[in-house]
Amino acid sequence: MSLKEKIDINRLPRHIAIIMDGNGRWAKEQGQDRLFGHFHGVESVRNIVEGCAELGIGYLTLYAFSTENWDRPVEEVTGLMELLVDTIRKEVATLNKNNIKLHVIGDLNMLPDYARNELKEALDETSHNTGLNLVMALSYSSRWEIVNAIKNIAADVKAGKLQPYEIDQDSIKDYLATKEFPDPELMIRTSGEYRISNFLLYQLAYAELYFTQVRWPDFRKENLYEAIIDFQQRERRFGKTGEQISQQEKTAIS
Ligand code: IPE
Ligand code: IPE
Ligand code: MG
Repeated sequence: MSLKEKIDINRLPRHIAIIMDGNGRWAKEQGQDRLFGHFHGVESVRNIVEGCAELGIGYLTLYAFSTENWDRPVEEVTGLMELLVDTIRKEVATLNKNNIKLHVIGDLNMLPDYARNELKEALDETSHNTGLNLVMALSYSSRWEIVNAIKNIAADVKAGKLQPYEIDQDSIKDYLATKEFPDPELMIRTSGEYRISNFLLYQLAYAELYFTQVRWPDFRKENLYEAIIDFQQRERRFGKTGEQISQQEKTAIS
């Protein structure tokens, strides 16, 4: 039985989010510079996007560049921006062929004009697709997103469009960059770091977290299948007791 066959397709995570980490270390291990690692990371992105589309995953969010990553050496930032934009442009045809809709979350004002324009085009050209939703987190950080949300909530309250007593979890969600997407159910981080690094802090409240030592440029569909199988073995309790969850499952089956 292959790993893929071990996946229960009726219990797939609806939304998978990935912190694609380890490109720099991977490159160093090959005696190359960091950009070489980013370049090879693109092949993993293609492979994982294809893997998610084949399985029928609804949403895949990829953390490609954080707000804090702007503070890296300028050659790395420039090289990475060019690579990201170039890749997105080249992949539009494949995204359309596979019915994949591209979304971007992040502070796009920080991007150079050429990058923002290319991105807008790619978003437009894939906007009619109805299959996998591919969300690129670009110049994204969760604290940036939350600050932004609070500013907009405050402005709407001031303008009388929103009453303070109306603010609840649903209305907060509407002010986040991820308002169109369900919360991730599975969050994967590659390359051995056990942290969230300012990624989807609000949305990951009840996500199952999966950490692997595999560096992002080595991460392939088989690694994704392992993560999904692991996810399917977890008991998601959402604060309830294990007994309550078993009871719920029994009632759902009968
Ligand atoms: C992830 O790999 C890609 C980005 C953060 C842009 P890194 O570049 O962080 O690689 P490491 O963690 O230094 O190995
Ligand atoms: C998180 O990785 C950001 C992305 C993968 C885009 P980092 O490599 O920037 O995170 P830290 O610095 O190790 O926490
Ligand atoms: Mg890193």
